[in-house]
Amino acid sequence: MPSWDPAQYAKFGDHRLRPALDLIGRIPDIDPKRIVDLGCGPGEITEMLAQRWPEAETVGLDSSLDMLKKARALNGRARYVEGDVASWTATPPIDLLFSNACLQWLPDHASLFPRLVAQVAKGGTVAIQMPHNHDQPSHRIIARLSEEAPFKAPLAGKLRHDPVDAPASYWRLLKPLVARLDIWEVDYLQALTGEDPVLNWTMGTALRPVLDALDETLRPQFVERYREGLRAAYPREAEGSTLFPFRRLFILAER
Ligand SMILES: C[S@@+](CC[C@H](N)C(=O)[O-])C[C@H]1O[C@@H](n2cnc3c(N)ncnc32)[C@H](O)[C@@H]1O
Repeated sequence: MPSWDPAQYAKFGDHRLRPALDLIGRIPDIDPKRIVDLGCGPGEITEMLAQRWPEAETVGLDSSLDMLKKARALNGRARYVEGDVASWTATPPIDLLFSNACLQWLPDHASLFPRLVAQVAKGGTVAIQMPHNHDQPSHRIIARLSEEAPFKAPLAGKLRHDPVDAPASYWRLLKPLVARLDIWEVDYLQALTGEDPVLNWTMGTALRPVLDALDETLRPQFVERYREGLRAAYPREAEGSTLFPFRRLFILAER
């Protein structure tokens, strides 16, 4: 599992919050008693859930102690617990399972998703958002460099295959398990600002497993090669912004 740096992640708060807000906005008018936010990260979104449903018990679960520390420092309404989504179970079942930008880090969705849905009470809600962007240059350049010397040997077996599948696969997987199912994708055209903004973005996400796996000598070499590739793939607009299109997959279901 990669390490998480809350400061790096927080730099792009607005672009990252937007899909979560869009997802919360699509959740119907429900009255959940128990809410769990899987991979809650720094807790802003968990607190939004807790504010929308103040009567509910809201729990944010994350495996990163750094993220949990940030979340707890918000002094909000939610409770934060350390845990691994891969082995998490809910007793008793919960009424709203929410997860924003986390489940793409877990493998084997064909068995994970049915298991997660089974933790939700009948009539409860599942609301999930995952980046679905691994066919883009931001990810393809990492994959290409990791096949080249001198990075290939230290990165062997360290980079995962992205498990996020086609929307239709999730539909086929989940349809027999739920009463209602709505799956959609959105392409956000993110206009980033500043120097090497795509590199800064992926430093907090896709690049983390690489940074964790390489030593002090190879890490800056990889970052330089990656930076060059990104500059070519995402040229700066005359106006100054760098356009970084980003596709996200949304799943909303009623158990
Ligand atoms: C990209 S962040 C998203 C955080 C938050 N949901 C948000 O949207 O701001 C991904 C989070 O998932 C957590 N995470 C990744 N794998 C996990 C796992 N197996 N179990 C629990 N948390 C995990 C990371 O620690 C990180 O906080």
